[in-house]
Amino acid sequence: MPSSLRSKKILFGVCGSIAAFKAAGWVSALTKEGAEVTVVMTAAATRFVTPLTFAALSGRPVHSDMWEEGMAHIALPTATDAVLIAPTTAQAIARLAHGMADDLLSASVLACTVPVLVCPAMNSKMLAHPATQKNLATLRGFGYAVAEPECGRLACGEEGAGRLAEWDSVREMLLGLLTAQDMTGQQVLITAGPTREPLDPARFLSNRSSGKMGYALARTAKRRGAAVTLISGPVALEPPPGVTLVRVETALEMAEAVSKCAQTASIVVKAAAVADFRAAAFSAQKIKKTAVEPLLALAANPDILATLGRSRRADQLLIGFAAESGNHEAEGRRKLLAKKADLIVVNDILGSSTGFDVDTNQVTLITLDSTETLDLLSKEETADRIWDKAAALLRARQVKFNQQEAS
Ligand code: C5P
Repeated sequence: MPSSLRSKKILFGVCGSIAAFKAAGWVSALTKEGAEVTVVMTAAATRFVTPLTFAALSGRPVHSDMWEEGMAHIALPTATDAVLIAPTTAQAIARLAHGMADDLLSASVLACTVPVLVCPAMNSKMLAHPATQKNLATLRGFGYAVAEPECGRLACGEEGAGRLAEWDSVREMLLGLLTAQDMTGQQVLITAGPTREPLDPARFLSNRSSGKMGYALARTAKRRGAAVTLISGPVALEPPPGVTLVRVETALEMAEAVSKCAQTASIVVKAAAVADFRAAAFSAQKIKKTAVEPLLALAANPDILATLGRSRRADQLLIGFAAESGNHEAEGRRKLLAKKADLIVVNDILGSSTGFDVDTNQVTLITLDSTETLDLLSKEETADRIWDKAAALLRARQVKFNQQEAS
């Protein structure tokens, strides 16, 4: 499946910090995703990792000498979509902040007009020094994005802030810089994953939802500039960077969390596979197989989406999911009306490449006046298409509102 980094031209600057070894993994990851990575190293960086390593991982020549090739500092940045500098040392930050052009990397950045992402990595005292903080503020003022260094054990043996940020959050920042920020200002609330309904201290009722679709929606909305709250049942996924995560276990907990957060949301997406039933009574002791009739008494859980549909604000957009094993369109349309949603995303849970616990999906988008079946796509691409549809619905609503105001 194509990644959003495919064919993107990245100028990857590497500076002289021990964290340069991590940059090798990042160049490899970007290249595997189909990005065209050109590495520029400072002289100090070549002391930590050889240019050969980066050349082998990127499949392209590595540049480090200002004087080797004619106008490399002009040619390199013009053929690029974004500049990523990792690790960015205190020295490089100072050079960039002062517009110096005394090596190939700093001259290239000075000559570039594309987004720049710096990833500081250094000793915590060097990071905390007012000079570095002032230089970082200057870079932010230039519009450069800064991947905040993390706290932890540093190469010098000290504990503190200064560790290179994690790849997942840097990758998301890079994708954000390469993506139109068309969801800026939207407050998005997403539910994801299954719920777990306990029967006794050892057992629960649940379903096969992995949370991948809801997490993909959260990542892509954040990437497009939205403020995202993700209410998640128990899943084995890393939290998407930059997203407010609320962990819940049962349907009742999810209902409570949704009702707390829904008021301020402009778009609510219920991608969670909420258990329709819970145990009528929780047994505080483990149920013995000899002690009871093998019958389970169940109680219905509240339908969170339908509750939202009844109480929603007029300007809120409500999106539900329907996991179906047959009669997809009719079932989706029935749920659209019954739950008073603006959009129902129907997926087929019997297909081997769609539905539960796979990275791909094929969905049908159902609104009051349209039905559209998308191709088999990655869940992230599917999520982007859902956001495109949401944007179109919001635009149509605005047009209608303007017409009503005018008449
Ligand atoms: O009725 P069904 O469960 O198929 O509807 C699916 C949609 O309703 C999903 O958006 C799901 O998150 C939501 N739902 C809910 N609360 C429930 C059951 C489903 O919000 N108890």
